[in-house]
Amino acid sequence: LRSNASATLPIARLLDHGPKNSSNVAVNGYVRSVRNQKRRSFVAIGDGSTLESLQALLSPEQAQSLSTGTAVRLTGEWKESPNPQAQSHELHVSKVDVLGVSDAAKYPMQKKYQSLEYLRTMPHLRTRIPFNTTLLRLRSDCISEITSFLSQEGFTQTHTPIITSSDCEGAGEVFHVASPHKGPVSETDDGTFFRSTKYLTVSSQLHLEALAQSVGNTWTLSPTFRAEKSDTKRHLSEFYMLELEMSFVEELSSVMDVVEKLVQRVTKPLLSSRVGKEILSSRALDGHDDPDAITSETIRHRWERILADRWPRITYTEAINMLTESTADFEHKPEWGAGLSIEHEQYIANTLDSPVFVTHYPSSIKPFYMLASTKDSSPGETVDCFDLLLPNAGELVGGSMREHRLESLISSMQSHGMLPSGPVESLTDDQLGALKWYIDLRRWGSVPHGGFGLGFDRLLGYLAGVPNIREINTFPRWVGRCEC
Ligand code: 4AD
Ligand code: MG
Repeated sequence: LRSNASATLPIARLLDHGPKNSSNVAVNGYVRSVRNQKRRSFVAIGDGSTLESLQALLSPEQAQSLSTGTAVRLTGEWKESPNPQAQSHELHVSKVDVLGVSDAAKYPMQKKYQSLEYLRTMPHLRTRIPFNTTLLRLRSDCISEITSFLSQEGFTQTHTPIITSSDCEGAGEVFHVASPHKGPVSETDDGTFFRSTKYLTVSSQLHLEALAQSVGNTWTLSPTFRAEKSDTKRHLSEFYMLELEMSFVEELSSVMDVVEKLVQRVTKPLLSSRVGKEILSSRALDGHDDPDAITSETIRHRWERILADRWPRITYTEAINMLTESTADFEHKPEWGAGLSIEHEQYIANTLDSPVFVTHYPSSIKPFYMLASTKDSSPGETVDCFDLLLPNAGELVGGSMREHRLESLISSMQSHGMLPSGPVESLTDDQLGALKWYIDLRRWGSVPHGGFGLGFDRLLGYLAGVPNIREINTFPRWVGRCEC
């Protein structure tokens, strides 16, 4: 930055790298507060680039048109502050441009305490709260880290479709896309835009599997939609999932290694970054109404545990044993063959005080595409899969090796009730249905492969110590709620 040029800078840049003194500096931002004294007024300006406010000195006349929420451009002299404990520099304002007025008395984002639920009713304004800008910057920083990590590791980023013809997870939680078309309706055409009902994607996995067998290891960060009615802190109807698929891999452990390195890579910069410092300082002061409010010590501990060498890996059978041997009073009785409930997941991760991979779940409770285990010594049939569980949070990642052999895939689909019985040659196109193309992939150079899906909004919430995903996603959608 040239010291005498007029430059409009984000406040974070000005505070970190700005000139020591400069006669001509301009900032754009929003008034956070105005404090009037007899001869001068102190105006705090924020612009979302940092939690910190810039202190501007104005004459009371200049400050007259400013109140909390007003958008301004202030130009003036950037000088070292006489009170360096409070701020290193301050702006002695010569010119005030009011760019957008705001009535402080009615401004909905008042400084006083407001409940999270109240703030959720105005997602278009709540990101003005300084900590919510930290969360936006955390999202952006994590995407950068992930992109550079996976690029270094040789993964190709791609995009997969949002409108799909199948329910990847087979859980029946799909949103339907069924706009009418204008043409005549025939026997094979149900009158919907695509001639039959389509769905919003619940996972990019199946499409990524196709791409991984041409370009090699690949990944995407895609909007994902689930019409599940779960009204919890962990579920949204629309969220971002980071999905990754590796081809020519035989071992589940190779896939888990990538999860571990990736999550460590996004966590490490928080120890020294602006966003990391802001998370710790905000959580230390926090006065929000969440009964699960998380302190800065807990967050620091989380980061340290993530960065510790090698996370525990236990089998589902070992997890069930751990639960049945425990004296805890679970609402759902742990039982081999049943899914792990959130209380079970939290118990396991809390007991081990670390992110933990639970592997080799029973095939009966997992989707059709997972590869049957051959090496696991569990009492029933299992698949080569894992869930990554986090202390006090639960599942963050689900992944598996995929069934890449044609005959075995068909029999897995048959045992999941997705296809009628009989050899594959006897099945008609109609019977193969919407997954015909996915089955077809197994005919043409199909190789061992595996991958995972990571709930990106859940990851951000965990790293930032924000327990409810509705505060992480800027415009959250959940059952009954889609505000704007
Ligand atoms: O475990 P899930 O359902 O796995 C899949 O969809 C696989 N096809 C992924 C793959 O292997 N490519 O979802 C993956 C992750 C979960 O572990 C969870 O973190 C997140 O996605 N997730 C949700 N996040 C927010 N709201 C919801 N309703 C979510 N459902 C799943
Ligand atoms: Mg899962």
